[in-house]
Amino acid sequence: MKKVCVLTGAGISAESGIKTFRDADGLWEGHDVQEVATPEGWARNRALVLEFYNQRRAQLRSVKPNDGHRALLKLEDQLDTVIITQNVDNLHEKAGSKHIIHLHGELTKVRSQRDPSIVLEWEDDLNEGDLCTLGSQLRPHIVWFGEGVPKLEEAIGHMVDADHILIIGTSMQVYPAASLTAYAPNQAKIYYVDPNPQLNYELSRQEDRLKIFKGPAGTKVKEAVELILTASF
Ligand code: OAD
Repeated sequence: MKKVCVLTGAGISAESGIKTFRDADGLWEGHDVQEVATPEGWARNRALVLEFYNQRRAQLRSVKPNDGHRALLKLEDQLDTVIITQNVDNLHEKAGSKHIIHLHGELTKVRSQRDPSIVLEWEDDLNEGDLCTLGSQLRPHIVWFGEGVPKLEEAIGHMVDADHILIIGTSMQVYPAASLTAYAPNQAKIYYVDPNPQLNYELSRQEDRLKIFKGPAGTKVKEAVELILTASF
């Protein structure tokens, strides 16, 4: 069975009402990345960081997956598919996708500051004084700038076997996620759905086997999925 690696970013959730990071009205606007998404910001002002992620977590209760998320189900039904997402939302799960790797963490989880292997499901606000069993403050289960990406090896392990790579709604600017296509075999086909696709260093070297679907995920993912299925049987 053909193997498909889907790499998603904030753009796939845009039509569900979650802002992207780097578009004009992106989420970072009004928020200093250094203050809310770095270990240093956490050390400086925990209350601010907790509030930022509490707002993001609260938003998850009201947002729903869109046709872009749902179009992937057909791929998963018919091919060996893994979704490698940079998103910390849970819209792939809500859409019914099964094999998902969250490269940058998950809003619905928190973890111990002292022992990162202590990870808890968390639906409500996280506050100062919420402690793990070791007595240490719990923090959002998010990969901040400057931190390692623990799921990277697992993602690479899938990429090296890929027949098709479907990239959706990501500016391909944040590394190491943006370098994942470089691990794919030379014959793997790459598809990129985005209204404003940006070819980074890796993709510009793979242009000969790259097909771009310029437009929103809500309509274009379905087209890309049909092409992948046609090419697979
Ligand atoms: P960006 O905000 O950098 O890029 C969003 C991409 O979505 C852009 O290429 C847009 O053109 C595209 N886009 C906008 N609307 C879309 C739509 N309706 N359909 C499809 N695409 C659309 O977001 P990411 O590339 O995901 O990390 O950012 C990567 C990482 O940067 C994030 O995971 C986050 C941030 O730092 C963490 O939170 C750790």
